[in-house]
Amino acid sequence: MPKPVTKAVFPVGGLGTRFLPATKAMPKEMLPVVDKPLIQYVVDEAVKAGIEELIFVTGKGKTAIEDYLDQAPELEAMLEGRGKEDLLAALRDSVPAGVTIAYTRQPEPLGLGHAVWCARKLVGDEPFAVLLADDLIKSDVPCLKQMIDAYSEVGGNMLAIMEVPREDTRRYGVVKPLDSTGGDNTGGEPGDLFRVDGIVEKPDPAEAPSNLAVVGRYILQPEIFGFLEGQRKGAGGEVQLTDAIATLMDRQELRGLRFEGTRYDCGSKLGYMKANVAFGLEHADTGAGLRDFIKTLDL
Ligand code: UTP
Repeated sequence: MPKPVTKAVFPVGGLGTRFLPATKAMPKEMLPVVDKPLIQYVVDEAVKAGIEELIFVTGKGKTAIEDYLDQAPELEAMLEGRGKEDLLAALRDSVPAGVTIAYTRQPEPLGLGHAVWCARKLVGDEPFAVLLADDLIKSDVPCLKQMIDAYSEVGGNMLAIMEVPREDTRRYGVVKPLDSTGGDNTGGEPGDLFRVDGIVEKPDPAEAPSNLAVVGRYILQPEIFGFLEGQRKGAGGEVQLTDAIATLMDRQELRGLRFEGTRYDCGSKLGYMKANVAFGLEHADTGAGLRDFIKTLDL
């Protein structure tokens, strides 16, 4: 039985430059999709997957995230007084009782790998999950739960994988899958777990080992911290988590899971707008009105 995953790291130290000027005075992770900030969606996903300790790696200008996750007794009292039970429940459910929160700081945004490394003392000698709030995943079973269910059978390290158009490989970490015959496979159908034989960050389409891209959900063993230690800057001049995973892979098993669900890249303007439409169409307050509005558009 693999050691259970009870801790999750949320790296929220990035600058969010693609969302400037909005992110000049507001963390990207606080941008709302319909009525909840991005960070709430990944917290919900982690909690539904059985995570008990949430570890946030924050940075300069990110205090709104801490304020958001704090309890708000005055606001709760006001809502209670006005009989706004549904809003009160949403507020209270934001972090359920029994789930703990810890914060650490990334002194400078040196990259995702560096942000994860900053959490090493809080994670300790345990397997852990990493969730990126800007990858919003809409699925029947939360993506991290799909991964933890598979992990509980096989252990090791695991990446969430989705197929992307080949011309887009430059925007992702891309894996080389290994099948039992030693040849390439495509990663199969959603729900399929496969061994990873190589990983490269942001390859040119011509050099990409496949079109299977890593999205922001990981299960990692604590040995990753040793490989992140003193890691040199990689693609884009940042300390890349992918590079440390590539080294870890030589010593430990690494698998990809083609999860069931749709991922929205809320770190980009278009992905964020698509997420608002997809979630807005399903929201009780906005679904019907948004559908009617879309029908009136002269597209
Ligand atoms: P991105 O690659 O989207 O970078 O980070 P970014 O700085 O947030 O945004 P852009 O590209 O400037 O618009 C992916 C995830 O890694 C975190 C981000 O907060 C985001 O959740 N991250 C990135 C850190 O925590 N620290 C870093 O140094 C870099």
